[in-house]
Amino acid sequence: MASVSYTLSHRLPSASIQETLQKLSLELDVSTDRIRTIIKQFNIEMEKGLDHEGATLSMIPSFVTGRPTGMETGRYLALDLGGTNLRVCEFDLQGQGGKYSVRQQKYIVSEQLKSGEMRYLCDFMADCVDNFISERGADHLVEALQLGFTFSFPVFQTGINRGTLMHWTKGYNCTGAVNRDVVVMLQDAFLRKNLNIHVAALVNDTVGTLMAHTYLYPETTIGVILGSGTNACYYEKMTGIKKWKYGSDFDDMVINTEWGAFDNERRVLPLTMYDNKLDRESINPRQQVFEKMISGVYLGEIVRNAIIYLVDQRILFDGQSSRDLNKQWGLETAYMTTILADNDAFTLASTQHVLQDILMVPSTTLQDRQVVKHICELVARRAARLSAAGIAAILSHTGDIDRPSVVAIDGSIYEFLPGFEAQMLDTLKELFGDTIEDRVKFGLMKDGSGFGAAILAMVAHRTTRSS
Ligand code: BGC
Repeated sequence: MASVSYTLSHRLPSASIQETLQKLSLELDVSTDRIRTIIKQFNIEMEKGLDHEGATLSMIPSFVTGRPTGMETGRYLALDLGGTNLRVCEFDLQGQGGKYSVRQQKYIVSEQLKSGEMRYLCDFMADCVDNFISERGADHLVEALQLGFTFSFPVFQTGINRGTLMHWTKGYNCTGAVNRDVVVMLQDAFLRKNLNIHVAALVNDTVGTLMAHTYLYPETTIGVILGSGTNACYYEKMTGIKKWKYGSDFDDMVINTEWGAFDNERRVLPLTMYDNKLDRESINPRQQVFEKMISGVYLGEIVRNAIIYLVDQRILFDGQSSRDLNKQWGLETAYMTTILADNDAFTLASTQHVLQDILMVPSTTLQDRQVVKHICELVARRAARLSAAGIAAILSHTGDIDRPSVVAIDGSIYEFLPGFEAQMLDTLKELFGDTIEDRVKFGLMKDGSGFGAAILAMVAHRTTRSS
């Protein structure tokens, strides 16, 4: 084998390829200045959302006030819908500074259920819960089981266990759900199955993640999801929630920002033709613009669009694509993880496996694989920088940027994309200096959304019983 140098630039023979790649790098870059502009706009949009309904950032009051102490006890169910799977869990909260045990089961939500009637989806969820609880015997059913429902879509909340779906995201599109109370629909499905279960709390996954992490680390201030979708929540002072119409005996409340919709007006985000193509062909064009640049449902498709563009210019694969690569959503974001983790510079064998064995591209050269890896790096880096911008905007809004604070994060993008967390931290350092690392900490809260829902079910149940 000829001896070659494997940095990308050394392997590129033609000036036109160099030029194309440089253009791509520029397009997918988010400069520090641009990030500052994004943060500024983010803060403006946050204020609008706190002021009135109908703003781009929904800034939804969650009805969650106060923080768990880690002393909470009891057995509670959680039902978690919104990512790739449906999860049913039973938590045994043991207090003693955050001790608990959990039993859980995952169920796959078929594409058919995701776009069928909401009633069928609710029946499916009730079946899964039925299956889960029947495994441990019926003795517990004499008294109603209390359940926290993590429903990770934009919901206009009207109480701790009340809320109407505003619109679907992340590829879900069930009929008969928008503008309807999702708790009532789920509760009806339990009734149809004669299940003695009470939905005590309706919880966004960001809020669940924040609660779960706070149960373990009380200094937590923000909950973030970087998974199939993306979003964040944080504690806001009641005086800051101008649109709040109910009374308040508490100082602050968790606000679900629904940041995935940030910049739907396309004022500040650096959108490329690959993003535009994805958006145009999605089931929710012009919506969730920020989410579409960051989260797991979409990143692979951005990469695919960029690859296809280079194939058409005969820069990749000698101009040959494949049926699988040509298919919308054909390149799953999970493949990006494999490609980014491929450190075998001499062969890029895992990248070759993804391209040739999974996506059935007839043949690839090492240079092809280097270019594909580079595209993945650019798309992932941009997502990390934008995620950091969102977090920085919230920390600036609350003033926590100058104080020690912990950001609880969950989701496959954060957990599995190599280098993602480091790039987020680097972006914060770029913006606020190296000392930011001493103040702001990221904490992975794996599967926290269900756990948080169980904690909130407990709090809500106790409150109802004592009132
Ligand atoms: C939803 C949010 C959710 C996020 C992460 C978004 O698509 O609108 O409610 O928190 O995904 O799952």
